Amino acid sequence: MLEKNPTAIISVENVSLAYGAADGPNVLEEIDLKLHEGEFVCLLGPSGCGKSTLLKIIAGLIQPSAGSAVMDGIHITGPEWHRGVVFQQPPLYSWLSTRENVRFGLKMRKIPKAEGLKLADEYLDKVGLLQYAGHKPYELSGGMKQRVAIARALVNSPRVLLMDEPFGALDALTREEMQQLLRNIWRETGCTILFITHDVDEALSLGTRVLVMSRSPGRIIREFTTSFTCGITAESTGQARYSPAFLKLREEILGLINKQKLSSINNLN
Ligand SMILES: Nc1ncnc2c1ncn2[C@@H]1O[C@H](COP(=O)(O)OP(=O)(O)OP(=O)(O)O)[C@@H](O)[C@H]1O
Ligand SMILES: [Mg+2]
Repeated sequence: MLEKNPTAIISVENVSLAYGAADGPNVLEEIDLKLHEGEFVCLLGPSGCGKSTLLKIIAGLIQPSAGSAVMDGIHITGPEWHRGVVFQQPPLYSWLSTRENVRFGLKMRKIPKAEGLKLADEYLDKVGLLQYAGHKPYELSGGMKQRVAIARALVNSPRVLLMDEPFGALDALTREEMQQLLRNIWRETGCTILFITHDVDEALSLGTRVLVMSRSPGRIIREFTTSFTCGITAESTGQARYSPAFLKLREEILGLINKQKLSSINNLN
């Protein structure tokens, strides 16, 4: 059998980052990370360890102090639509309707209006919000706003979806619904996802690979290949989450993260 050799879409090589003065303390140190085509990578780590910073470097929103971030062999120097970004509090334009929020990026890319509207509606339908196309963001719930943000990122058919705690502010039930929606979208589109979360259960039930970062300065200290997401459907969520293999890995990862937190507390004393 041929050796499987997945293509890396994103390569982060030896990246360090210090905010402010170049000789200031590093927030990220010597990060090496590859995102392969079709992977669903979840990133866990203590608060302040640099997860969002790493995502922003890959998004092209900030530049590393050292090392490089590359997509398809080309240096990432700014944001672009091949990399869709979804944040925890989606910055929707309050004066635009749901449909116009979703169409916004297409408009910037000068996609003809009729085509843009058709695409916006198609993606609103995918996230179950077509009947809210004419509503303004203030008329939507938190979960609905997050759906709009996902549709807005997906409408550009990005090859990579970068998500920073997108479901962090949602109640448990909505969160599970959104996780299932994202799983379906991932299976359907085959896009590559980098997903930041604080929730180990969420990481294990979504990702095909889970990365754990150390406390600041952030480094990637462990990675786990997982496949629970493949067996999870809307009906079977509980069974997969409470399997012995899932619980064992959950314990191990929680142990790792708690160790990071403890070493941080000890350093304060
Ligand atoms: N724009 C900025 N200027 C200066 N320092 C920053 C900036 N953004 C983040 N930091 C600092 O960089 C460190 C890492 O922040 P980051 O937001 O990447 O962490 P995080 O792992 O995403 O945390 P959380 O889990 O709480 O979201 C923190 O110490 C933070 O204060
Ligand atoms: Mg963050």
